Amino acid sequence: MEKVTFVLVGAGRAGMVHGRNLVHYIPEGELKAVVDVDAAKAQEAAGELGVRWYTSFDEALEKENFDAVCIASLTFTHRDIVEKAAGAKKHIFCEKPLAQNLEEALAMKRAVEAAGVKFQIGFMRRYDPEIRRAWEMVQEGLIGDLVLVKSTGRGPGLPPAWIWDRARSGGMLAEVSSHDIDAVLWFVQKKPERVFMEAKNFKSPEARTQFPDFYDHYLLTMAFLDGPFGVVDGGCPVGYAYDARMEILGTKGMIRVGETEGRGPVLYTPEKKAIRDTQAGWALRFKDGYLEELKAFIRAVLAGTAPTPSLEDGLRVVRVVEAGHESLALGQPVAIKEW
Ligand SMILES: NC(=O)c1ccc[n+]([C@@H]2O[C@H](COP(=O)([O-])OP(=O)(O)OC[C@H]3O[C@@H](n4cnc5c(N)ncnc54)[C@H](O)[C@@H]3O)[C@@H](O)[C@H]2O)c1
Repeated sequence: MEKVTFVLVGAGRAGMVHGRNLVHYIPEGELKAVVDVDAAKAQEAAGELGVRWYTSFDEALEKENFDAVCIASLTFTHRDIVEKAAGAKKHIFCEKPLAQNLEEALAMKRAVEAAGVKFQIGFMRRYDPEIRRAWEMVQEGLIGDLVLVKSTGRGPGLPPAWIWDRARSGGMLAEVSSHDIDAVLWFVQKKPERVFMEAKNFKSPEARTQFPDFYDHYLLTMAFLDGPFGVVDGGCPVGYAYDARMEILGTKGMIRVGETEGRGPVLYTPEKKAIRDTQAGWALRFKDGYLEELKAFIRAVLAGTAPTPSLEDGLRVVRVVEAGHESLALGQPVAIKEW
């Protein structure tokens, strides 16, 4: 069987989802090595996955023979790894957000285009069976013309401290809600004319002490010419669940996607209560999406076709995030010019 061989960069939360999928569930993919700057993490991950390990991507490039890199290191390291991978003619699967700012994102685009390698951004919601079916329903005209596309993304806990620093993560809008922004853009398939963002810090004084511009709950609206309203609302830490839902309103109907309830049993009590666990986290909720996105990338590499979602899709989300932050600073809507 023809295979795509990989090096995984970043053996953290997202990286191990991809690593395990490659090793256990994707026969057309073969993981050769894992890279993590933290030697203990690299070694532990390599032990579990049964592959070699390195503490720098340069060393992996020098010693391993492979086709593609799966980048799941921290956002502010994406550009460096992408430029090195592209320079070595490796195909690239890169976690979202593409980058923490537009300058980095544009540099990545130049590197990938110059090298002519395949690139896919990790917006796995496009491969979630439920969201995908909703998208098809819209294409089939089942709800008429779009009126509103709303995507809610909330996490139970406050993300790790590096994410509090907008200069390194792109901020909560990029870290938590890149998926939601991409989902709205994917459903609407138009350039937003302008965006407006409001944000506050309700629950995280510890983050604000270090980073005065830190916000933990926010609302972003996107206005489309002759098109629907786009709304993204996000926040962490909400405590009650990992909450990823969409509502798509059309002129002839409405589609709801996602549940706050988990998949477990419902306990009915003599107090006439029904108790059920909520969605625990993103890795479980989008288990199918993570698997299917990597399979799709491998299929595209093997077939020589363009993978989707593309670097351009990642770049557009970075543009919306930057415009959102500009709007937040100005207290007024900001026009999107370049697309
Ligand atoms: N698609 C999704 O739903 C999803 C979910 C979580 C995280 N992410 C994204 O994945 C990326 C990683 O996030 P995470 O939550 O897994 O972080 P994490 O902290 O759990 O793991 C990141 C790992 O990368 C390593 N690392 C840092 N710099 C490195 C470098 N230069 N080379 C090699 N390894 C390096 C760290 O030591 C760490 O082990 C981020 O961009 C994040 O936004 C995406």
